[in-house]
Amino acid sequence: MKVTILGAAGGIGQALSLLLKTRLPEGSHLSLYDISPITPGIAVDLSHIPTSVEMTGFTGDDITLALKDAKIVLVAAGFARKPGMDRSDLLHLNAGIIKNLISQISITSPHAMIGVITNPINTIVPIAAKVLKKIGVYNRTKLFGITTLDIIRANTFLALFTGKKPEAFNTPVIGGHSGSTILPLLSQTNYNVQLTEKDIYNLTKRIQNAGTEVLESKSGGGSATLSMAYAATNFCLSLVRALKGESNVIEFAYVEGQGEYAKFFSQPLVLGKNGIIKYCLIENLSKFEECALIKMLDQLKHDIQLGESLVQ
Ligand code: LMR
Repeated sequence: MKVTILGAAGGIGQALSLLLKTRLPEGSHLSLYDISPITPGIAVDLSHIPTSVEMTGFTGDDITLALKDAKIVLVAAGFARKPGMDRSDLLHLNAGIIKNLISQISITSPHAMIGVITNPINTIVPIAAKVLKKIGVYNRTKLFGITTLDIIRANTFLALFTGKKPEAFNTPVIGGHSGSTILPLLSQTNYNVQLTEKDIYNLTKRIQNAGTEVLESKSGGGSATLSMAYAATNFCLSLVRALKGESNVIEFAYVEGQGEYAKFFSQPLVLGKNGIIKYCLIENLSKFEECALIKMLDQLKHDIQLGESLVQ
């Protein structure tokens, strides 16, 4: 099982590499790539950790060796927000990087599962899909925008609010990964928590603004890296379990689904050896959630169309 991280020398990439080196199953191969020349050194550094995960690291223009035979490719490359920026302000910086990396993936590992972390996810994933489509290798069951961070934040904030253990929570979050397009379904968390309308409003806002909360507390030092790496690790390990044939692996991700709400939408998915095997229904929304879902759709559709228009 080879997993490749593109953008492995950045804040998310290094933490993600460390977590995967310690958590991938025995016999896996973790391949790191970044334009930063320290990348082979990061692989050497990690190779001293005693786990049975082989490490390789690459830099330079040729990314072929890093990608060759990869079953999963995680894309963390690109610029992060600075205070005062919205995720969409990163589009002009990150779109070109993504187009280039996705083209390279399509040539060297066209059958890999691709997990995108690079922001703005709402727009970057449609760009990636369009690039893959243009080259003729798009498989919508294998392209994922990783939105797991919104779920772990929802779980953590609910736990803080209720005084229960964060590990015990499992809260669905649907939509996209930016502002009001992040919609936690607090009415469907696994615990029977009693929340007033005001609690629901406040918790929802906190989850939607959590990226900015980190950004502002880092005082210009960037956005979330460690919690994002943790979230992406969990998502990657679910892909690994699905690839190894485990049944009933369920994850939320921002994917091209059935289009009930928007062409790309984060929703519950059943994963299998060949990617998504089932798009699960989103049902039983509360009145608050229904309204928030309707309200977010214009923004989400705009983000998607913008991405698609950038690939001609
Ligand atoms: C996050 O949610 O923390 C990330 O998307 C990074 C950001 O810019 O907020």
